[in-house]
Amino acid sequence: MSQRVTRRQFLNYSLMGVGSFMAAGIAMPLGRFALDPVFKGGAAGNMITTSVKTSEITQVPSKVDFKFEQKDGWYTSEVTEFAWVYKEGDNIVALSPTCKHLGCTVNWAGDDSHPDQFFCPCHNGRYKKNGKNIPGTPPLAPLDQYKVGEKGGMLTIGKKHPNELVK
Ligand code: FES
Repeated sequence: MSQRVTRRQFLNYSLMGVGSFMAAGIAMPLGRFALDPVFKGGAAGNMITTSVKTSEITQVPSKVDFKFEQKDGWYTSEVTEFAWVYKEGDNIVALSPTCKHLGCTVNWAGDDSHPDQFFCPCHNGRYKKNGKNIPGTPPLAPLDQYKVGEKGGMLTIGKKHPNELVK
């Protein structure tokens, strides 16, 4: 038994087909546009070469600036940050200056009564040289650490990660 398609059904099927085709044609580029940053490989994780020679790094923490491109969706900007860098034996240590209490910037030897510690002036937070937060001061976690390396004798700085020096 043959099934006849009425003119109305034929029109419905045709319109649905054309409508779906047009919707897909619009949705695919929009979806790709919305997810573009996700598909692009970011520069995050790359090592950044600083202007500091590794041979000049001492046991006293000093500020080392580094610049990188930050992508926020489609907006790219150049950001300058710094790390507290020092030598511990043959190893180079780079600590984040961002206080783990409320995010102020910590200074090395910023408090005259504790010249061998990092000091956060916002709420008198203190950290040992390896970044360990001093109990009884506001910060509840150690300073983060940066991955470090060397390229052509220059210090390179990479991604920030939780402190691995503090046991
Ligand atoms: S923000 Fe550093 S102690 Fe509060």
